[in-house]
Amino acid sequence: MFYLMIFFLVYLANKKIKKMKIKSLLLLFLSISVLNGYSQDDLPQDYLSSDFHKDRREQLRKSMPANSVAVFFANAVRNRANDVDYVYHQDPNFYYLTGYHEPNAMLLIFSEDQQNEDSTFNELIYVQKRNEMAEMWTGRRLGVEGTANKLGFKNVFNGEDFKDIPVDFSKFDKVMFRDFFNDVRDNKRDNADLYSLIEQFKSKVSYESLPSKIPAGEEIVEVETNIDVRSLRTLMASLREIKTKDELKLLKKACEISAVGQIEIMKAMHPDMSEAEIQGTHEFVYKKYNVEYEGYPSIVGVGNNGCVLHYIENTKMSAGKEMVLMDLGAEYHGYTADVTRTIPANGKFNKEQKAIYDLVYKAQEAGIAKTVIGSDMRRDIDKAGRDIINQGLADLGIIESPTQKHLYFPHGTSHHIGLDVHDLSNRGPLKENMVITVEPGIYIPEGSPCDEKWWGIAVRIEDCILITKDGPVNLSAMAPRSSDAIEEMMKEESILNAFKLPNLD
Ligand code: GLY
Ligand code: MN
Ligand code: MN
Repeated sequence: MFYLMIFFLVYLANKKIKKMKIKSLLLLFLSISVLNGYSQDDLPQDYLSSDFHKDRREQLRKSMPANSVAVFFANAVRNRANDVDYVYHQDPNFYYLTGYHEPNAMLLIFSEDQQNEDSTFNELIYVQKRNEMAEMWTGRRLGVEGTANKLGFKNVFNGEDFKDIPVDFSKFDKVMFRDFFNDVRDNKRDNADLYSLIEQFKSKVSYESLPSKIPAGEEIVEVETNIDVRSLRTLMASLREIKTKDELKLLKKACEISAVGQIEIMKAMHPDMSEAEIQGTHEFVYKKYNVEYEGYPSIVGVGNNGCVLHYIENTKMSAGKEMVLMDLGAEYHGYTADVTRTIPANGKFNKEQKAIYDLVYKAQEAGIAKTVIGSDMRRDIDKAGRDIINQGLADLGIIESPTQKHLYFPHGTSHHIGLDVHDLSNRGPLKENMVITVEPGIYIPEGSPCDEKWWGIAVRIEDCILITKDGPVNLSAMAPRSSDAIEEMMKEESILNAFKLPNLD
């Protein structure tokens, strides 16, 4: 495009078109180039802003103890096989505080201004260095300049500069970080990779002197240390468990996209569908909305497979007349939904399926009603649903009495969602603008000690509930939930059924 315009202008100049005209053409050219630049950068416009991340750092700083520093590391690159790595995903805390998507980086936040010869700073970020060859293969890097300009950091350095950081860690009362799992690969050709950053950091803070690092059998001598590997989790949870307006926008979108995925599969479902195709239909919908990732591996379990709570093999070839438990969540700009629907593959619940389904539905309704400011996830929400399920299982003769111990509902009812599907939280009473799941379930595996007519029935219903002053708001409500509403939706035609592919051997 650029070269075509140049060619065109030279051509016009040769034709001796008046100076004025050339001037206006030049202006036109400039505006087209700008537009062209934008179209090359045709990216979503609804990412979190650098102001959001800056504000999060500010809030963390305010909550830190005096004379402390908080240190965060980017996620590691993980190898899948040979020269192929797993798709990179940023560490949620690092993303929350920076907006930086790349590996091999670290962030330091200081509770007070730090002074050295030529500057004052209260945060430092070390990032991947620009590298033409690497960027040709694995994508563009922000580098120092990009991190300063796009993410609004004032003090940005290349990772290789961390070894010379102008900070004496021994002077702080607390050096806070999350402990390491020691599972990061060393890229031996790069002395500024995550491995090197961690090793250099450990030596600067005398990490090996932590009492918990002394090898078993050796005498533990009480050592004075300013290292704190516990507090940061609590501080970050206090921030992340309450969603800001900007976060809620993204989380709501993730939930709605996931609900649309459930709706489309309800229309398209038929008994010959495989678990993999059902998974693909949801994920196809996600991609139509430009979702980057699934928030966790998609769970699609037909019949008895649904009894495995995190079943992700998704290899069964056909659904037949069984129910299909579908627990999937779109992750939109970092924020993940967590939505489950369980539907009969042939469009109609049979008697036993309906009895179990309606019981879980009733338990979920009771749980959602308790999802209000001040509630406790275990004592209020879980209990409300569990009491109903226990009574219902007894009424159906699946257990002998509501107080009998059993494994038909083996998980909790709620967890927070956000940048992690099981998001950070301090598990206190619910507050305004928290978002949690309400997900009761009943799972009756083959061979269970009850009438075999119940065997292989697994039902979970899961929605994402926003806590507000006016009560619970179901962010995934678009996807039908009651057995009647599901059967109605399953009567609808799906355009996907016209999508025929050739048979392959
Ligand atoms: N999808 C995982 C869960 O429901 O917690
Ligand atoms: Mn969940
Ligand atoms: Mn789930």
